Amino acid sequence: MSRIDTLLAKMTLREKLGQLNMVASGYAVTGPLLGGDSPDAIRSGDIGNLLNMVGPDHVNEVQRIAVEESRLGIPLLLGFDIIHGHKTAFPVPLAEAAMFDPVAWARTARVAAVEAWNDGVALTFAPMLDVSRDFRWGRIVESAGEDPWLNQQMATAKIKGFQGSDLSTVGSLAATAKHFCAYSAVLAGREYASVDVSERALHEVYLPPFEAAVQAGVAAVMPAFTCFDGIPMTVHEPLLKDYLRGKLGFDGVIISDYNAVAELLNHGVAADLAEAAALAIRAGVDIDMVSNAYRNHLPEALARGLVTMDEIDACVRRVLMLKERLGLFDAPYRRGAAPLAALAGNIDHHEVARDAARKSCVLLTNYNGALPLAPHERIALIGPLAEAQADMRGPWGGASVAEDSITVLKGLSEAVGSVSHAAGVSIDGNDTSGIAAAVEVARGADTIVLCLGESAPMSGEAASRAHPELPGKQRELAEAILALNKKVIVVLFAGRPLAVPWLFPKASAVLMAWFPGEQAGPALADLLTGKVSPSGRLPVSWPNAVGQAPLFYSQYPSGRPFNPNDHYTSKYIDAPNAPDFPFGHGLTYGEFALSKLAVSKPVFGPTDTLEVTVTVTNTGKAKAEETVFLFTHDLVASVSRPLIELKGFSRITLDPGSSGTVTIALPAQDLTFHGKDLKPVLEAGDFEIKIGSSARRSQMLNAKVTLKL
Ligand code: NOJ
Repeated sequence: MSRIDTLLAKMTLREKLGQLNMVASGYAVTGPLLGGDSPDAIRSGDIGNLLNMVGPDHVNEVQRIAVEESRLGIPLLLGFDIIHGHKTAFPVPLAEAAMFDPVAWARTARVAAVEAWNDGVALTFAPMLDVSRDFRWGRIVESAGEDPWLNQQMATAKIKGFQGSDLSTVGSLAATAKHFCAYSAVLAGREYASVDVSERALHEVYLPPFEAAVQAGVAAVMPAFTCFDGIPMTVHEPLLKDYLRGKLGFDGVIISDYNAVAELLNHGVAADLAEAAALAIRAGVDIDMVSNAYRNHLPEALARGLVTMDEIDACVRRVLMLKERLGLFDAPYRRGAAPLAALAGNIDHHEVARDAARKSCVLLTNYNGALPLAPHERIALIGPLAEAQADMRGPWGGASVAEDSITVLKGLSEAVGSVSHAAGVSIDGNDTSGIAAAVEVARGADTIVLCLGESAPMSGEAASRAHPELPGKQRELAEAILALNKKVIVVLFAGRPLAVPWLFPKASAVLMAWFPGEQAGPALADLLTGKVSPSGRLPVSWPNAVGQAPLFYSQYPSGRPFNPNDHYTSKYIDAPNAPDFPFGHGLTYGEFALSKLAVSKPVFGPTDTLEVTVTVTNTGKAKAEETVFLFTHDLVASVSRPLIELKGFSRITLDPGSSGTVTIALPAQDLTFHGKDLKPVLEAGDFEIKIGSSARRSQMLNAKVTLKL
């Protein structure tokens, strides 16, 4: 008998339910506090899993109780939200997506995994794979943005980074793909609201990243809090059981979201907690996070015949298997026992953070070479984010401490000597009395660097905004500074794109910094002074107006496509259709021209892989990195297809005046879509291959190819 069979045979019902129970410790608060960890309950086998406890001493103490003082000695599983770094705060996920760099995505995950390992953590509740198209939704910050293909790449890279080659190897962390699925499509962008998307959108937009996660071997999946098409995801048998477990073959652990089993009562699908617990078990949810519904109410559910012991055993088995895969039975105290500083190849974690921060900032505008700053310029640093420290980490601080973050004021002062400084206003207060003083400080400078945006808690969970614009009196401050008619460089910090169309024509340059992490100051100084050229690209379309939400580039065609001269065509009468900046947009200190698009085979078959080649020339004055995107368009198909769909990207660094070639592979199978019956199909016919520096269709190079079956 395997270790797990032997254990299962010995376990009482109470001990089994303990293994399905995850309780919150008080270290970090990530939801309403519902109960603490209790040594007695660990000893009695009532708690098999903990979240929000970090630090080797604490972890090893509770682990010791589980291993040495509980009847069966089953080790605890310790989970923590490691969303954008553990001790070292990296850029938020939306910012990381802007790097368009799978190697860098995996690297930050690996560093976070090593730090978490040192802290005794075995499981992270990341990556979040909710394709996010509504910038009102606060959790867009945790996503890789609007594109399903991009989210797939992020899923694969992050899971590889967190989990390594094997969960039991030193420094590996079990990853959780969340939130399964379509959480990001909450009604009107309002947190925790219901979701109602078409079957087609489900299969083509929201599920592909989870499919990629399962293929990458993700250890766990977390169902979303939300109700999908009338069925809360926590009990959604068709999606959890038939699709995830059945079709995708996922045999890892499903962990409910925080208190989601108890919240089934609010959803109105269970009359009491016994019913709620039974429904979740029957959908295959193995671990009940904090609601205690399994522990306290499954015995009653069993007695009432709502659930069977076999169904409970299947869940217990999966939890024990995960603990075994993590090596917890063989070496329960290994995580955190000896710090693994050198594990990530002796790399300096702060350098990784600085590199990621530099790569993730997106230069939105730069008129007349306003950036980089010239060495002699007298600089005034104005705005409420200039000296912000904790905010630089973004909304999931993890185990990082605010004091480790370096402000823009510090970073820039160190890079250029002294800068004058005034906040002017607070981030979201109503007091405008500091604006006059800030204007005076600005008046004495050649160039003003204006740091504006959101505070960290204005995005993330439970942070939907109906007005995703500059909060408080920041616009008033900005208008006063811009009225000086000096060179004004705006650095924006936010967990989402902000609708600030008035700003772009007036500012000399706008750099989107998102929340860049602990190295905010030095990284921004590197970019502003030109030590490094910006290279980040938008993973989301940047809105002109809030009313454009949900906003994304891969729109379906309209029978009446936009025509400014024809009233009865698809448009707003009071706002443009186009975003202020398209998906993929991002300037550098170089300037790039694309030419000579070539496709290896104009006529191809279903097993072929096309090679799409383009020449990139840096026509500018500085060395920089260009990102090239490959889109496709299926011209005529059995169902209407999006106008363009992302299928690949590549980056190339070029000196001024030099050219290089970029080749992107396109397997014919990637042209598969869901047909009329929603089954995957590859249809013969013509496709457009489109290469561009962003999703702006008017500026793409095009080639036509034909698929013959
Ligand atoms: C609720 C969030 O939705 C989820 O993403 C997170 O992992 C849990 N809280 C635990 O903190």
